[in-house]
Amino acid sequence: MALIRNMVAQDLPYVYDIALKTAFAGLDGMPYYYDKWAVGHYYAAPYFFFEPEVCFTALNDQGVPSGFIVGTSDTRSFNRWMQNEWLVPLRKFYDGVTEFKSDAERNTIKQIIKGPGEGLWQNLGYPAHLHVDLLTILQGKGLGKALMHTFFSALQAKDVHGIHLRVDGRNVKAYGFYEVMGFSILEEVGGSAIFGIKLA
Ligand SMILES: CC(C)(COP(=O)(O)OP(=O)(O)OC[C@H]1O[C@@H](n2cnc3c(N)ncnc32)[C@H](O)[C@@H]1OP(=O)(O)O)[C@@H](O)C(=O)NCCC(=O)NCCS
Repeated sequence: MALIRNMVAQDLPYVYDIALKTAFAGLDGMPYYYDKWAVGHYYAAPYFFFEPEVCFTALNDQGVPSGFIVGTSDTRSFNRWMQNEWLVPLRKFYDGVTEFKSDAERNTIKQIIKGPGEGLWQNLGYPAHLHVDLLTILQGKGLGKALMHTFFSALQAKDVHGIHLRVDGRNVKAYGFYEVMGFSILEEVGGSAIFGIKLA
């Protein structure tokens, strides 16, 4: 039976792999990237280093990490830490990259170089944000929902009650999932939507 537990450092190679295999609007990003690490460097691994207590791994029946939820309870502090620490060596490396396999890879590397903004949704009562990804084989079995509820509980334990997240407009499946999970659209920007939820 699939299992959810706190993320540990040994999960990281799997986390990078899952991040890439769900990177193309929820579908496999492998065909679109020369660099197999860029996606995980920005959208998955840093959360574990910043706030491991709100990061969780889903294991398949054989105990192999096959999905995760990562996030932060404090987007503004996370974004500052990204800009001032995590991204510093990555920028040095990716600044020299000039060959991209696709627009998706170009945009990810551009994002690494630019970094996140200030965390504007924090001002409006949505300080937390998250990323949730499952390999295809584990999708549609209730694990996404279980990961979300695990994340919600971890946030409530920190007395944080507002979450936002960004969804690529092409990822229609994820729109349906977040709506069922109780999120609603706060804003639509540049082909994607910001969803938000206030927990009790
Ligand atoms: C999106 C994702 C995390 C959802 O997880 P999941 O395990 O497939 O979803 P679950 O089986 O837990 O579904 C939970 C609920 O959402 C509903 N749901 C899931 N997808 C849905 C959809 N496309 N439309 C409507 N409802 C949907 C399910 O029916 C279920 O409802 P119920 O609780 O009433 O039975 C997962 O499919 C995934 O990792 N996709 C690829 C990566 C991705 O797109 N990540 C999000 C990027 S923003």
